[in-house]
Amino acid sequence: MSEHRIPLAGVIGNPIAHSKSPQLHGFWLKRYGLSGHYVPLHVEHSDLEQVLRTLPKMGFVGCNVTVPHKEKALALADVVTDRAALIGAANTLTFRADGKIHADNTDGYGFIENLKQGAPGWDATEAPVAVLGAGGAARGVVAALLDAGVPEILISNRTRNRAEKLYDDFGKRLRVVDWVQAGNMIEEAGALVNTTSLGMVGQAELRVPLDALRPDMVVTDLVYAPLETALLKEARAVGCTVVDGLGMLLHQGVPGFERWFGQRPQVDEETRAAVLA
Ligand SMILES: NC(=O)c1ccc[n+]([C@@H]2O[C@H](COP(=O)([O-])OP(=O)(O)OC[C@H]3O[C@@H](n4cnc5c(N)ncnc54)[C@H](OP(=O)(O)O)[C@@H]3O)[C@@H](O)[C@H]2O)c1
Repeated sequence: MSEHRIPLAGVIGNPIAHSKSPQLHGFWLKRYGLSGHYVPLHVEHSDLEQVLRTLPKMGFVGCNVTVPHKEKALALADVVTDRAALIGAANTLTFRADGKIHADNTDGYGFIENLKQGAPGWDATEAPVAVLGAGGAARGVVAALLDAGVPEILISNRTRNRAEKLYDDFGKRLRVVDWVQAGNMIEEAGALVNTTSLGMVGQAELRVPLDALRPDMVVTDLVYAPLETALLKEARAVGCTVVDGLGMLLHQGVPGFERWFGQRPQVDEETRAAVLA
């Protein structure tokens, strides 16, 4: 791109009005005094390819991709990172100067960075991790946990064969547990992760029995609306180290922002406040 152009980026999804990414990137652009803009882009699934081929011609240096375009964006990309290929979806695209679309998935990175920041005493290699859910987000979480050296992942999902598919894709360090026995996983685990949408505003509550939670455990929820889910509230009451899901959203934005705007942004209290405003 020629130097006088102001770099543009955005987030592509449908729906997209609820996305917090424009607030996040807008805050960072302002904080670091960078010229650039980040906008929400409502795109129909059938238009995705045309949009991705057109955006670079309009000054876009990259974009985030969210529901329902993550898998198709990966398929349309010319260059794919190993972690995006393993997860099977892309959330961060960079439009390269040679015309190629580079696809990455930073969800797992965001998850693990959030956990490191919120629970600095947590040692990934020490004990198994119990994971609730086996949807799209769980793939990034599982990939990141394995990468961090977790000895075993106990995973339970309402639809068992989705968890078994994760076992097939990610291997023997996973153990699938029946959904009716999900609460039993906690006894063996050092950390508990909710990757289901249960507990989110407008969704049913998570009904997994939590009696086995211990104060030495780390509990984190991908759901961030509400910020303190019933799961996190109960875990806090037990004395667990609790990490909410907002930090994952903030951290997953870091690699894209750095690639597009040339500055590695910090995730801190001010960043959280800006996104919650
Ligand atoms: N904090 C972040 O940055 C971040 C990032 C990504 C996602 N998330 C959040 O994570 C959640 C999951 O996202 P996703 O993309 O993985 O969605 P998804 O692919 O649709 O998966 C949904 C998951 O929730 C389970 N589930 C839904 N309703 C259920 C019910 N009534 N009983 C039991 N299980 C139920 C599903 O089980 P079945 O397979 O049985 O349907 C599946 O495991 C969402 O709330 C999303 O907002 C947060």
